[in-house]
Amino acid sequence: MLQPQAIALQGPEFSPLVMGYWRLMEWGMSPQERVAFIEHHLNLGITTVDHADIYGDYQCEAAFGEALKLAPGLRDRLQIVTKCGIATRARPENRIGHYITDKAHILQSAENSLRHFHTDRLDLLLIHRPDPLMAADDVADAFMALHQAGKVLHFGVSNFTPAQFSLLQSRLPFSLVTNQLEISPVQQSALLDGSLDQCQQLRIRPMAWSCLGGGRLFNDPHFQPLRDELEAVRQETGATSLDQVVYAWILMLPSRPLPIIGSGKAARVSEVAGSLELTLTRQQWFRIRKAALGFDVP
Ligand SMILES: NC(=O)c1ccc[n+]([C@@H]2O[C@H](COP(=O)([O-])OP(=O)(O)OC[C@H]3O[C@@H](n4cnc5c(N)ncnc54)[C@H](OP(=O)(O)O)[C@@H]3O)[C@@H](O)[C@H]2O)c1
Repeated sequence: MLQPQAIALQGPEFSPLVMGYWRLMEWGMSPQERVAFIEHHLNLGITTVDHADIYGDYQCEAAFGEALKLAPGLRDRLQIVTKCGIATRARPENRIGHYITDKAHILQSAENSLRHFHTDRLDLLLIHRPDPLMAADDVADAFMALHQAGKVLHFGVSNFTPAQFSLLQSRLPFSLVTNQLEISPVQQSALLDGSLDQCQQLRIRPMAWSCLGGGRLFNDPHFQPLRDELEAVRQETGATSLDQVVYAWILMLPSRPLPIIGSGKAARVSEVAGSLELTLTRQQWFRIRKAALGFDVP
């Protein structure tokens, strides 16, 4: 059973693996099946869930909330993370997809999320993507209002550069607790562009999205050399799947990311939990990095 861990000095305690609900509407689960799926990962100790207002064309939060309403005891066993700051064409009034980080939108989106989840508080609210029109003072005003009202307990960002992170942080009286970033063998930019260094420096833990490249790692012919290397490491370590090796690779990063699981299959979710037991050697780690990049690394 996984144990909760602090993700920042003044931050919340989250499970070391997070369940991501971006693809919930694709899973075709009935409300009762959603309850069973949530109970399944809670029983493994995966208590933190990741959402966004826009997921499933703005439907995922409410579908998840339907399950919470069916089994009201679940809410207090979960930490709910959600995001705002993107407007998609799934809403007819948005004639173009765009970013939106003004105060009124953030406040409204948070209220919508609270209503969808049938809860009085969000554990963590993130700005989903950097917005070229983001006025840091405006975002900070919104965050402080939500914090003072007790509606959102912690705040963070996603896909922010270190400079964008520092700008927003400079306007806040409390610490941002995470930067949610794409991290996987097939997307390694954050490893050396300063993003993870900043997390380490500030002692905040990143959340890692699309750890399996959104599934591409398994089905893209381009990644066959990577799969071959993962299989070799799997055999050397006794891991039970390639997924486990990938998650162990991410968990070795010294910024201590919290991987977000994207699978809607209970058996695969259980499998991922086993990756916390797995340790790779430095050479195994670099073999995977090299196989994914396709060239030798200094
Ligand atoms: N902040 C952001 O900008 C951002 C962006 C994207 C995602 N996210 C978050 O990150 C979470 C995870 O992202 P993701 O869904 O892209 O994660 P992922 O784990 O990289 O990809 C999940 C996909 O891989 C498939 N998969 C898993 N194991 C597999 C295997 N062994 N063989 C073949 N296919 C396999 C899954 O299919 P099955 O369901 O069939 O297992 C699913 O379609 C999301 O739910 C969301 O919460 C955040």
